Amino acid sequence: MRAIQFARYGGPDVLEVLDVEPPRPGPGQLRVAVRAAGVNALEWKIRRGLMRHFRPLRLPAGIGGDAAGVVDEIGAGVTDVRIGDAVFGSGHETYAEHAVLTAWAHKPANVSFAGAAGFPTPFETGVRVLDEVRVSAGDTVVVNGASGGVGSAAVQFAVERSATVIGVAGPSNQEYLASIGAIPTTYGPGLAERIRALAPHGVDAAIDIAGSGVIGALTDLTGDPARVVSIADFCAPRHGARTSTGVGRERVPALRHGARLVAAGRLVLPVAQMFPLERAGAAHAASETGHVRGRLVLTIHPNGDSR
Ligand SMILES: NC(=O)c1ccc[n+]([C@@H]2O[C@H](COP(=O)([O-])OP(=O)(O)OC[C@H]3O[C@@H](n4cnc5c(N)ncnc54)[C@H](OP(=O)(O)O)[C@@H]3O)[C@@H](O)[C@H]2O)c1
Repeated sequence: MRAIQFARYGGPDVLEVLDVEPPRPGPGQLRVAVRAAGVNALEWKIRRGLMRHFRPLRLPAGIGGDAAGVVDEIGAGVTDVRIGDAVFGSGHETYAEHAVLTAWAHKPANVSFAGAAGFPTPFETGVRVLDEVRVSAGDTVVVNGASGGVGSAAVQFAVERSATVIGVAGPSNQEYLASIGAIPTTYGPGLAERIRALAPHGVDAAIDIAGSGVIGALTDLTGDPARVVSIADFCAPRHGARTSTGVGRERVPALRHGARLVAAGRLVLPVAQMFPLERAGAAHAASETGHVRGRLVLTIHPNGDSR
């Protein structure tokens, strides 16, 4: 099968299409014929070697954690899917024609494989961070970096919990933020004052997705560092706030929750751009800009953009 691999850490050009043996699912896993794979910011960091101390790799290695596709092999003990089912989920080396998934949900019929390929990481991360800072009905929560993949999901999951959401992104994403239910504002000087003006009754919780050095301002706004979390700023604990990782987290409930909201028309995660498999390097270069609205996706099958 065709798969993206890299033999050394480096720039987007280290990603190559190679012919490799398809993987086989182990117990509790399944394999999909991948129609489309989601591109996460984590993956360019892995490719550059920035994560090698946390996640050592034996190179050459494949890459990618999210996919949508059609189940073509089922591991021992898996009972909730059949061969031929359309699913999306998290797994290993998903920039490939076949990939093993370790957590999945059925693909909502109203979304394409390309759309669903972008769901897994934003759904799992979005639900996790809201849980970690205990966002519930009536809260006002700030989401810093609200228009990217994780931010878009976190905003809509928070709205679903009947929270008021103040979303922070650049000027070109203000209307988009309003369209997904956030009160929009821009990042940059004066951020704390703008948020205070938008939240006359105060801010209960804050989620930093951009990692843009605002944890001190967010803990001042909430008055309680235990209700501030970052997924991209490893200095958050210096302010008493937490840095969240998905290690060991059960993903399936968040994937199913997100799928139900998508099926009901209550959650959208736009695809900013699609790339064919052989242009994975261009997708990584786009991801590295840090200014993606929604998701970047690799279409791996000619019908990758179909339902
Ligand atoms: N720890 C974990 O479990 C975990 C899980 C998933 C992702 N992550 C990390 O989380 C980060 C975000 O992921 P993503 O996929 O959502 O990224 P993304 O799609 O690239 O989104 C980045 C967002 O940040 C906004 N932004 C850019 N500069 C900003 C600034 N100075 N202040 C506030 N917002 C700013 C962008 O808005 P504009 O385009 O309008 O500028 C965009 O909304 C990445 O670093 C990723 O590695 C961590």
